[in-house]
Amino acid sequence: MRYGIFSDIHSNLEALEAVIKAYQKEKIDKYLCLGDVVGYGANPNECVEIVSNLASTTVAGNHDWAAIDLLPVELFNEDAKFAVLWTGRQLSPAGKDFLRNLKLTFELDNFVLAHGSLDAPQNFNYLLNINSCTATFELMRRDLCFVGHTHVPVVFIKDKYGKSSFVDTDRIKIVPGNKYIINVGAVGQPRDSIPQAAYCIWDSEKQEILIKRAVYDVFRARQKIIDKGLPEFLGNRLLTGN
Ligand SMILES: [Fe+2]
Repeated sequence: MRYGIFSDIHSNLEALEAVIKAYQKEKIDKYLCLGDVVGYGANPNECVEIVSNLASTTVAGNHDWAAIDLLPVELFNEDAKFAVLWTGRQLSPAGKDFLRNLKLTFELDNFVLAHGSLDAPQNFNYLLNINSCTATFELMRRDLCFVGHTHVPVVFIKDKYGKSSFVDTDRIKIVPGNKYIINVGAVGQPRDSIPQAAYCIWDSEKQEILIKRAVYDVFRARQKIIDKGLPEFLGNRLLTGN
């Protein structure tokens, strides 16, 4: 099976369309989404509709929950809060229903999906370094855990001797006996200084994970954010990928 696994679209329609176009050349069998479909960007309903039709499973992100009042907006910074409240007002009843029904984690074959971490997934903890991965590695009943949330692609590895490490790579071969936490990066708001949409392919036959990037029209996505009256900063950061 070839899985297309992507995260953090953040209502960025231009980035999402670029990723789907790139996936179409990759013979993907099944699509999975790791949450934050909405928040920050100008097209929440369009992104919800596309993701809900494309992905066989989507797990909930903190922005998805906040936009439908399942998470307090006080947890967000001013720009994010403004965008979350705006998103909540834009979302269609069908869009809200879709977000309300998302599960926090999902297990499939030899892997598990979560937006932030497996420990207290409703708290959306950030897996920023090896130490913050300890609880998630402990809870993993499967070899692979795919996450998003930080908007920075990275792979954390715990080997069969219990030693942990991380690699910043776009291709990794799975070694039997190891456990892996794979952050697939962000479609719609990358924060690794690369202003391109990130997406992941998990090839379970080749036992290989790829992180790829798609160029998209950052200027158009930025202009739409500004035209909708959302904070200019949220548009400007797309130009630098930070
Ligand atoms: Fe996010």
